[in-house]
Amino acid sequence: MNVLVVGSGGREHALVWKLKQSARIERLVCAPGNPGIATLAETAPIAAGDTRGLLEFARVNKMGLTVIGPEQPLAAGIADEFQKAGLRLFGPSRRAAEIEWSKSFAKEFMRRHGIPSAAFRIFGARQKADAVAYLATCPLPVVLKAAGLAAGKGVIVCATADEAQQALAHLTDNAAFGSAGETIVVEEFLEGEEASVFAICDGYQFITLAPAQDHKRALDGDQGMNTGGMGAYAPAPVVSPSVMAQIKKNILEPAIRGMESEGRLYRGCLYAGLMLTPAGPRVIEFNCRFGDPETQVVLPLYEGDLLELLVAACDGMVGRIEQPSPPAGSAVCVVMASEGYPEAYETGKTIEGLGLLTDETIVFHAGTRRQPDGSLVTAGGRVLGVTAVRGEGPIAATIDAAYAAVDKITFDGMHFRRDIARRALNATAG
Ligand code: AMP
Ligand code: GLY
Repeated sequence: MNVLVVGSGGREHALVWKLKQSARIERLVCAPGNPGIATLAETAPIAAGDTRGLLEFARVNKMGLTVIGPEQPLAAGIADEFQKAGLRLFGPSRRAAEIEWSKSFAKEFMRRHGIPSAAFRIFGARQKADAVAYLATCPLPVVLKAAGLAAGKGVIVCATADEAQQALAHLTDNAAFGSAGETIVVEEFLEGEEASVFAICDGYQFITLAPAQDHKRALDGDQGMNTGGMGAYAPAPVVSPSVMAQIKKNILEPAIRGMESEGRLYRGCLYAGLMLTPAGPRVIEFNCRFGDPETQVVLPLYEGDLLELLVAACDGMVGRIEQPSPPAGSAVCVVMASEGYPEAYETGKTIEGLGLLTDETIVFHAGTRRQPDGSLVTAGGRVLGVTAVRGEGPIAATIDAAYAAVDKITFDGMHFRRDIARRALNATAG
C-alpha cells in the first residue's frame, strides 16, 4: 500500500518511523516532512494546509491511506474532502474534529453525555461584562481558555481574581488570538496528575495505546510557561489497569457513542487529555489527533502493525485488532528546544552530535532544516525529540539512556528539561 503522512514535526516523524516497519508498505511519502523524515521516506513539498494539493497528490499517486498529523487540516475539513473523492484518510471529519476546535462544543458535549470534566461557564463575544463580573466572584484558582484553536497557548491558570481579569483581557485581545478568543471558557481548576490516552476509533469501537504523560511547562519542576510539550514518557504508571478501565467506561465509550448519536461518527485518534483527580479521571480536553510529543513515546511501544490498525479504523474494522496489553518496556522523549521557546527564538544554529548515538535512541526531528552543504540547523521552537526505548526493565534505565543521548547533542542556545519522566520514578517508588 502507498501511504501519505501529512505534517512536518516530531509526531509525523514518529508516525513515519512506525509505519515504515509495516510489511505492507510500498511507497511511504510525507508532505511536507522534515530532514529526519527524509531519511526514512520520500517527501513532497505540499503544505499541510493545502487540501487541494494533498488530494491531487493522493489521487495521482494512488495513496491507499493518508494519515493527518496536525489538527488544522482536520478542522478545515480535509477528511470530508478525501471522503468525497473516495480516498481513505485517517482522521475525523470537520464535524467530529469540533471536539478539539471548539472548546465550547466539547464542554457542552461532555455535559450532554455525562462525561466527567471540570465545571465551566461559557462567555461569548458580547458577554465580556458578564465574564468580568463572574471572575470577580468565582472560586480560585480558576482556568480561562480561548474556545478556538490556539496552539496550546490559549489556556491560563489564575491564582487570583486580578490575574483572572488580566487573563480575560489577554485572551479576548484580538491581536493575540484572533477569532479563537472570541468565546471564553471559564473552568474549575482540577487537581491531580495529568495523563494522555489515545483511542484509535472506527466510529463505533476503539483500542487504546499505552498511556503517556506530557510535560507542558518550559522549566524543570513544572515551572515557566506552557509550551507545546517539552517531553513525554510512556507507559504512565499512574494510569493503572483499573484507572484505564474507568477511563474507557466513563470517558471513551460515552464519547464515541455520543459522537455517533449526534451524527458525528468519530474515526481517527481521539486524544483524551486527563486529570486523574481523587474523584476519578476527568477530561481536561479532547484532541482530534495524535499528541506531540506523546506519539514519539507511544508508537515505539506499540507491538502491532500501525498500518493495519489505521486502515482498520478507516474501514470500521477495529474490532478485528487486538487490544494491546500494557507494554513490558518504556519510552522517554526529551525535547531539545531553542533558547526563548515558547516565546521568540532564533533559528539557523548548527546541530552537532547526532552521529554519536546508539541503537537504543531515536532522534525525532521537530524543527530542523538541512543546509545546501548537508549540515543540519535549527528551524523551530521545538528542535529535536530525543527518544530512548527499552523493551524491558525499569524506566530509570530508559531515562538514563535518553539523557545520555541528549548530552551528546549540541546547538547554540539549546534548552531542555532535566526532569522528564521523573514522576514515573516517584510513582514506582510508591
Ligand atoms: P489544554 O490546552 O486544555 O490541554 O490545557 C493546557 C494545560 O493547562 C493542561 O495540560 C493543564 O496542565 C492545564 N489545565 C487546563 N485545564 C485545567 C483545569 N481545568 N484544571 C487544572 N489545570 C488545567
Ligand atoms: N502534547 C499536547 C498536544 O499534542 O496537544
